[in-house]
Amino acid sequence: MKSAILSEVFAEICETQTHFDTLLSRVHPLQRAKVAVYLGAFLRRPLTLADHFKIKIAENPEEFWSLNFIKLKKSAAIHELLKKIWESGGDFPNQGSEIDFPTALVNEWRADWGDEITKKMCMFLSQDPLTTIRLHRVARENEEKLKTTFSAMEELPKFRLGKYSILARVFKGFAKLQKTDLFEQGWFEVQDEGSQVMSIYALESDLMKSVLSPLPSVGPKADMVFFDKAALQNIAPRTVIDACSGAGGKALAMADLMRGQGRVFAYDVYEKKILSLRKRSERSPDRNVQGVLIKPSIAGRAEQLKEFHASADRVLIDSPCGGHGVLRRNPDSKWNRKPHSQSVDHLSMDELQQKVVMDYAPLTKVGGEMIYGVCTFAKKETLDQVEWIKQNLPHFELKSYGFIGPYDTDGFFMASFVRIK
Ligand SMILES: C[S@@+](CC[C@H](N)C(=O)[O-])C[C@H]1O[C@@H](n2cnc3c(N)ncnc32)[C@H](O)[C@@H]1O
Repeated sequence: MKSAILSEVFAEICETQTHFDTLLSRVHPLQRAKVAVYLGAFLRRPLTLADHFKIKIAENPEEFWSLNFIKLKKSAAIHELLKKIWESGGDFPNQGSEIDFPTALVNEWRADWGDEITKKMCMFLSQDPLTTIRLHRVARENEEKLKTTFSAMEELPKFRLGKYSILARVFKGFAKLQKTDLFEQGWFEVQDEGSQVMSIYALESDLMKSVLSPLPSVGPKADMVFFDKAALQNIAPRTVIDACSGAGGKALAMADLMRGQGRVFAYDVYEKKILSLRKRSERSPDRNVQGVLIKPSIAGRAEQLKEFHASADRVLIDSPCGGHGVLRRNPDSKWNRKPHSQSVDHLSMDELQQKVVMDYAPLTKVGGEMIYGVCTFAKKETLDQVEWIKQNLPHFELKSYGFIGPYDTDGFFMASFVRIK
């Protein structure tokens, strides 16, 4: 195996600006795990690693972050660093700090949350992510078989129970799980624990509100473990709209939590996402999820949604966002930040979120709940949006809200509102 493979994949990231995960899927399976770990580490904590290997890749960190992708690709120092990472055999620090993030981003966090929380965020978000799966109830009822299958697999890291979600099993590091028969039979899906929490919260916010914190990055409290099996088994089957479902991670979780009963309508404006949701749901034992392609134009969407007004018991709006909470998984995105969303409606991110809330909130029945969620923690996209909803949707009453992660989960914010009239 040549160390050049790291440089090649890195060059492709720079050249095509293709997502890290997509690029990895093209790397030869024999090399994929190593490339994922080493290149991921470089993207997550470049300056900490440069410091560790005594390679000078920038005069000062600010100058480094101002380099564009083309300059990075051409930098001899970067290639030297990638070579050292490869040759080190994985012996390098697994945690970074503020120097590993663009200065503008760190300043945004500091302005929102102060110095202490910003330091913690940088520490957590520069680590390698865990691999977390959500067990389908078929697997939860046959856990011995699952354990036997996993323990027979070579090179699979040990797994532990989730700390917040009873559905979660957590592997430390990179785990190749998608080639197993059990995965094909829908026994589990790869889903971060924070995302599982949001799926449970969307159906029964009271079950999960105690694991949420008023601030991001506070880390877990000792008593945060939620294992109320009976309550989970009694979640009522409902009509649920997952308004921004993407490839359906949460939609599928909610379908399982309702034991295959009720209905989950999974909306998205991108056909590609609806197609991957349909492919994913073919593996699932549940048949109560339906993908719906939503018209991207404002007028088209309004017309399409009109007939579903006041039809759903739960409307989850897992809105497009800045994605800071998932920077560990998408480490390339901090190198490629855009000031405004590239949404179909050409709005800034917070305006887009408000538009999406305005579009989908009316689908909630009176007495039902609307859940606003994001995988970020910018104040403008979290606490400020709660205030905005309170002021602009007076027929909705705030029930609970809070943050989870980024610590041993990705970072999420969620808020639940009851429709009172
Ligand atoms: C944060 S992602 C959702 C992730 C998803 N819920 C999951 O669990 O994997 C936001 C999604 O909203 C979609 N989206 C953006 N604008 C939308 C709109 N106006 N209506 C519906 N979906 C939209 C995007 O295509 C994207 O898939």
